[in-house]
Amino acid sequence: MRICPSILNADHSNLPQEIAKVAANSDWLHLDIMDDIFVPNLTFTLDQSKEIIRQSVLPVDSHLMIIDPDDQAPLYAKAGSKSVTFHIEASHKPLETINRIKEFGARAAVALKPNTSLAEIFPIIEEIDMILIMTVEPGFGGQKFMKDMLVKVRQARTELERRHLSKIWIQVDGGISLDTISLAAEAGADTFVAGSAVFGAGDPLGVCDQLRELAIQASAK
Ligand code: DX5
Ligand code: ZN
Repeated sequence: MRICPSILNADHSNLPQEIAKVAANSDWLHLDIMDDIFVPNLTFTLDQSKEIIRQSVLPVDSHLMIIDPDDQAPLYAKAGSKSVTFHIEASHKPLETINRIKEFGARAAVALKPNTSLAEIFPIIEEIDMILIMTVEPGFGGQKFMKDMLVKVRQARTELERRHLSKIWIQVDGGISLDTISLAAEAGADTFVAGSAVFGAGDPLGVCDQLRELAIQASAK
């Protein structure tokens, strides 16, 4: 079970301190990159991301919500992200992009928007390290968890078992909180992004711990 706080809605004027708040109970720092084209929101540039990666005590999991991942994704791996996720909807040559990410020593992952079916990634499934199943429409933090995405999470878990690919992680992102993480874990997710549930709380470190406990309990069911 991996907990990945997203700094999208954290205090951007003081990110090193925000990251330090959660580091002891987290596994990855989730960095959301948006270009205002693939999604209607803009976040960090490559240079800003490099600075965050440099300052982060946690390994960085970069989630690219941009229209040109085939060009950009390798640059985020080169910048030091330990995991780079790009959207399958935006890629014209996913296999090549996966390989270029891996050449820089990073894990390679593909993301699916809510309306994208799991089958879209079947041609490259053996090559990836993680599947990101979006549980909100990408673009903003603080949205409501889409319960109907649990079907896709279950389908992904079943498919990975059937293909003997259980080493591939299943990440969920969007609306993950103390109220929803158990549902996602029970369906088969093992890697959890949480933004507002963590940084909107009075005790971000304690919330990370509780999220992990709930995920462990639910997955054991
Ligand atoms: C949304 C981003 C998420 C966002 C999650 O498009 O990909 O990572 O930060 O925020 P919460 O946990 O508040 O839904
Ligand atoms: Zn994200």
